[in-house]
Amino acid sequence: MCGIVGYIGSKQASPFLVGGLRRLEYRGYDSAGIATINSPEGIRITRVAGRVDQLDQAVSRRPQVATTGIGHTRWATHGPATEENAHPHVGGHGVLALTHNGVIENYETLKQGLLALGYTFHSATDSEVIAHLMAECLKNISAAPNATTDSVDRYVEAVQQTLVQLRGTYGLAIVFRDRPDMIIAARLGSPLVIGVGRGEHFLASDTSPLVGFTERIVYLADHQLAVLRADSIQVIHRDEGKVRPNVQQLSSQTQEVDLGGFPHYMLKEIYEQPESIRNALRGRLDKDNGTAKFGGLNLTPQQLRSVRRLLLTGCGTSWHSAMVGEYIIEELARLPVEVEYASELRYRNPPLEHDTLIFGITQSGETADTLAALREMKRKGHHTLAICNVIGSSIAQEADGGIYLHAGPEIGVASTKAFTSQLTVLSLLALHFGRLRGLSFEAGQRIIARLEELPELIERTLECHDKVRTVAARFADATNFLYLGRNTNFPSALEGALKLKEISYIHAEGYPAAEMKHGPIALVDEHTPSVFIIPRGVVYDKVLSNLQEVKARGGPVIAIVDHHDPQVARLADEVISVPATEEFLQPIVTAIPMQLLAYEIATLRGCDVDKPRNLAKSVTVE
Ligand code: G6P
Repeated sequence: MCGIVGYIGSKQASPFLVGGLRRLEYRGYDSAGIATINSPEGIRITRVAGRVDQLDQAVSRRPQVATTGIGHTRWATHGPATEENAHPHVGGHGVLALTHNGVIENYETLKQGLLALGYTFHSATDSEVIAHLMAECLKNISAAPNATTDSVDRYVEAVQQTLVQLRGTYGLAIVFRDRPDMIIAARLGSPLVIGVGRGEHFLASDTSPLVGFTERIVYLADHQLAVLRADSIQVIHRDEGKVRPNVQQLSSQTQEVDLGGFPHYMLKEIYEQPESIRNALRGRLDKDNGTAKFGGLNLTPQQLRSVRRLLLTGCGTSWHSAMVGEYIIEELARLPVEVEYASELRYRNPPLEHDTLIFGITQSGETADTLAALREMKRKGHHTLAICNVIGSSIAQEADGGIYLHAGPEIGVASTKAFTSQLTVLSLLALHFGRLRGLSFEAGQRIIARLEELPELIERTLECHDKVRTVAARFADATNFLYLGRNTNFPSALEGALKLKEISYIHAEGYPAAEMKHGPIALVDEHTPSVFIIPRGVVYDKVLSNLQEVKARGGPVIAIVDHHDPQVARLADEVISVPATEEFLQPIVTAIPMQLLAYEIATLRGCDVDKPRNLAKSVTVE
C-alpha cells in the first residue's frame, strides 16, 4: 500500500526518490509522483497515473537540480487512480507539498471549512485537505505580529497545529517552497523511517529504499515529528517535546532483493521455501527436551503453563495460518484456541479471561487491522505476541514479545513463503505448549524429527511443478474453481482459493469438503474444476466420498494426494502427488502445488503476478 520516500542532501534528489519508489512498488500502488524544490522555480510536482517507470520517464524529460524532494506511490482510497489524485499534493498555491499515507476520517468537515476560506481542491483525496490546512496554519502563524521570518519553529508550529486537527492515521512528508533546506516528517499509525547519512538524510515508509544508502536508521514513533536537514535531524514528540533520536542499525536481513534469475518474485519466493522454512526452524528445536524454544516470548514457563486459551488473529493469508494453527495447537497441546479476523476483533469486544494469550500473525507487521486489534487486546490487559516477518515493523515493536519468521523479504503481493513459515512457527508453538502440558517426551522427539525433515520434503514437493504446469494449461480458461479439504486441509483450501483469485482474477471458493453439499455443489458442472486436497489421514475416506459426489455431477477434479490410490487416479481428471508427512504438517506441503497452480494459471492468462490489480502487500488502512 502507499509508499513514501524523501531526500535532503547535496546530491540530486530525484534518482533516490524514483529508485526508492521502485523498491516500494511491491507494496501495491496505482499512481506515483515526486515533489522537488528547484530554485528559483519553487516546488515542481511530477505525477503519473501509472507505474514508477512512467514516472521515471516523466522526471527525465525535464532536468532537475533539486537536492530536496519527497515521493509517493498511492493506492487509491479517496478517489480513483488519476494524476490529480496522485501525491504529492500542493497546499496554499505552492507554499508546500506533502505526501500522506493513512486515512483522515474527518477530512470532509475540514474540507468544508477550507472551501469556505477560498481554497480550491484539485483532487478527491483526504490528503489534499491536509496540505491546504497546513498552508492555512502557516499563513496565520506568519501573519502574527511577532512572527520570525522563516524560522524552523514557525514551520514546526504549523505542522503541529495541523496534526491536532486530524482524526485518523498519517505518515507525512512535507517540503516547503521557502525552506528547501528542510523536510518535515510526522507519524501517527503509518510507519516512517529516517536513514542517517553523511551530509544527507533519507526518509521512507519502510527500510527497503534505504538499503545501500545507509546502515543507520531512526524509526519515527507515533506522535513524533522530525525535522530533516542535510546535516541534522531533530525529533519532537507531541507530549514530551524534543527527544533524542534513537539511531539503530539496519537489519542485515533487509538485503537488497533481486529476481535471482526467476521471471517473478512470487516464483522465486515459492522456490525459496526449503530455505525459509529452515530459517524458521533454526535454533528453535531443543532435542534434549523434545520441545521447541523461543527467545522473545517474554513469558516464564510458569506464566506459559497458566495460559488457558490462545486467541490467534490476522488478515488474509495470515488469518488462514491462524486457522491451521488452531487445529495443530488444539491437537498437540490440548489448549483451546480461538481464531478471529483482526478487522472483526478490533470492534467485537469478546469476553476473554486474562489468562488468554493473544497472537497477532502478520507477514508485514504493518497491517492496520491487526495492529489495532493487538492494541485493543493490550489495552484490556492481555499479553500480546507477534508472529511476524518484518523486523522492526510496527507490530513487532508494539507487541509484548513475539517470534520472527526470518523468511527474508517477501516481495510478491500474494503471500507464499511467509505462509509456510507461519505454519512452521505455529507447529513449533504447538510443540512448545504441548510439552508444557500433556505431550510426552517421545511424541515431542517424533515431532522434532518430522520438522527437521521439512526443508528437504519441500524440495521434493517442488518437483511437482511440471505436472502443475500441465494441469494449469488444461484449466486456465475456467471462470470458477472450488477448493475442498477437511480438517487442517480446510484452511489450506481457503488459502489455495485465495492464491488463485488474488493473482489470476478467477473466482475461487474454499470450503470444507463435506460442507460443499450444503450449497456450493450447486456450482458444480463440467466447467467448474474442484481442487481436492486429499492426503491420507483420518478423514481420507470421507473426502473420497465428497470427490465422488463432484464427479457424479460431471465436475472436473484435480486431486492433490500423498500416495498412489488407484481409486483417486481413476476418478480424478488430474492427480498431483506430493510427499507424505504427518497430518499436522500436510498444509505446509500441499500449499506448494496450490501456489504453483495459481502462479501458472495467472501467467497463462497474462496477469501481472507480482502486482495484481487492486491489491496491496501491506494494508495500512482499515
Ligand atoms: C494483504 C496482502 C495479503 C496478506 C494480508 C495480511 O491483503 O495482500 O497477502 O495476507 O494483507 O498481511 P500481513 O502482512 O498482516 O500478513
